[in-house]
Amino acid sequence: MMNDQKEQIRDFLDMAAAYLSGGYLMEKTDRYVYNRNIQPSFIAGISAEKSAGSESAPQSDKFTHDVETLKSQSDIHQQNLPDTLEKIALEVHSCHACRLCEERKNAVPGEGVPRPLVLVAGEGPGADEDQTGRPFVGRAGQLLDKMLASIGLSREKNCFIANIVKCRPPRNRDPSPDEIAACAGFIQRQIKLLKPLVVLSAGRISASALLQTTVQITRIRGIWKEYCGIPLLPVFHPSYLLRDESQKTLAWEDMKSLCRHLVDLNEDYKNETSELRAARNI
Ligand code: URA
Repeated sequence: MMNDQKEQIRDFLDMAAAYLSGGYLMEKTDRYVYNRNIQPSFIAGISAEKSAGSESAPQSDKFTHDVETLKSQSDIHQQNLPDTLEKIALEVHSCHACRLCEERKNAVPGEGVPRPLVLVAGEGPGADEDQTGRPFVGRAGQLLDKMLASIGLSREKNCFIANIVKCRPPRNRDPSPDEIAACAGFIQRQIKLLKPLVVLSAGRISASALLQTTVQITRIRGIWKEYCGIPLLPVFHPSYLLRDESQKTLAWEDMKSLCRHLVDLNEDYKNETSELRAARNI
């Protein structure tokens, strides 16, 4: 057996022992230790949410989080509990992995339903998102909501909206490669947990980060790619569409392509959108 396999088994046994004795905590030393402050009911609640969220939660169980409640529980991120959207949100709110934390008012983990049809991956929060802690709520967000609604999608019903970086880059500059790298684990974990049928990647920064290559969005928009086995469609960022309205025709082509893809993948979506598709010639 390799040394790192032995390490993993030892860690696992430590964690199990600490868990069985009433609570556990991952210390800075990377060791699991007993922590008598952890409420067993809290642990149970998190586990129950995990099992509901991961496999069988109905699409209407919208994931939102009350920022203040999450902040008041801010030590939970240190526990080595099974991964959940709530755990990721807590970690995002207390993250100091890059300089973007210095000027943020609120980090913006993301929101939407568990097991969404579509995960929208934007670039990063702007001023309105920083103010509210919610993704895509400014002008670009309103346009995004309209685009999604045009093909029967919404964050309330069947989408999850997230960003590549979770804190606002000052003056809305592009996030730097090191900031993107520092944040990458969050969206990777969100996608792994959410298991969307499709990822809609909005803008150059998002597509470059997820496809791990520098892309020109004008070259790849509308061309289906893959992210970890999940179909991914790069599209123009709604902010770009607000600046250049002439691109809306192409953006509509992309939304139709997304709609057709979802029809092939999901029978409920196909049935629910049949009138809408007939009316819009999709
Ligand atoms: N632009 C983004 O990329 N994400 C947001 O949440 C808002 C604007």
